[in-house]
Amino acid sequence: MVVLKSSGFSEMNFRRMEIEEWFDRYQYEVECDIGESGVKFFNLGDFELNARIQLRYGYHRGNPSLRELVVRDYGGMSEENVVITTGASEANFAIIASLIDSGNHLIVEHPNYPSLYEVPASLGLKFDFFRLDFDEKFKPQLDELEKLVKKNTKLVVLTHPNNPTGSALTLKELEKVIDLAESNNFHLLLDETYRELSHGDSLPPAATLSSNAISVTTMSKAYGLPGVRIGWAVADKKVIEDVVAVREQLTICNSVIGEAIAENVLERKTSFLGNIRKKVIENLEILKTWFNEQSCLEWVPPSGGVVCFPHYRGKTDRLAGSWPKNIGLLRCLDIVLEWTSI
Ligand SMILES: Cc1ncc(COP(=O)(O)O)c(C=O)c1O
Repeated sequence: MVVLKSSGFSEMNFRRMEIEEWFDRYQYEVECDIGESGVKFFNLGDFELNARIQLRYGYHRGNPSLRELVVRDYGGMSEENVVITTGASEANFAIIASLIDSGNHLIVEHPNYPSLYEVPASLGLKFDFFRLDFDEKFKPQLDELEKLVKKNTKLVVLTHPNNPTGSALTLKELEKVIDLAESNNFHLLLDETYRELSHGDSLPPAATLSSNAISVTTMSKAYGLPGVRIGWAVADKKVIEDVVAVREQLTICNSVIGEAIAENVLERKTSFLGNIRKKVIENLEILKTWFNEQSCLEWVPPSGGVVCFPHYRGKTDRLAGSWPKNIGLLRCLDIVLEWTSI
């Protein structure tokens, strides 16, 4: 663990995330990894790359041609509202680190991708969890969110469609959160990693609805490209400049090869994502049938994305013992336990 002190943050403690430790240990070993949270990944050979790509430093905000492709989906915004980052992870880190200091407060939805609460915890920031509850079918109870808002709340962090529950906001709910952000003068960071894998109609990106909203997404999950390490944030220009300042300290710029692959995919986005969405819906039907046959598992079918958060009604040590070779399953159970115990 690394402990740092500074005037902006009270005390910084960076520890490893259990989910990522598991992943690092087992991702290349398991035959069947049911703990992965994205669609099946692609290979380099699936893309034709221009051999004349210069292996120099890239643009610090991301290649303008890539930003131009990205911003097409964000009506009313321009390339200056976009920063391409090393995955959503870097964007999320930079937003939390630049918007919040020790005098502010933030609210983070839970369960969630752990980095979204481990970053504020690591930076020694004050935050409260906004809980999604199995008994409410993981639907966000926005009256509860409102009760958590304090005078010094500067940021609310939500992920929808949510990882791991698959819960998705309705447009009305998103508008309600944005009203809350505008009237209480905080930013909404909406992690939209799974927005394009909504099982109904996708919501508009939050950043297009208000200058208080920040949209973050990635090519890691819906596009099956975690290895390219490309994500982005779309927001008000001031937020983008803050993110660029943090990212210059972390990574300077993106991998130019990653950016080239991202461009290649976004140029044919409709057909690329169309094939993936079709497969996701087919697989969801298989999963539904499987869940209906299980006596020891309860679940809320996801409204988007490729993850769900089942409840196991038995003893996990007995289940683990009965599938000794299936580390993927064990890993998944461990993660479920990790999330439920927080
Ligand atoms: C909701 C969510 N946000 C962000 C990330 C990090 O993704 P990236 O690979 O883009 O850094 C993940 C990874 O699982 C995720 O599930």
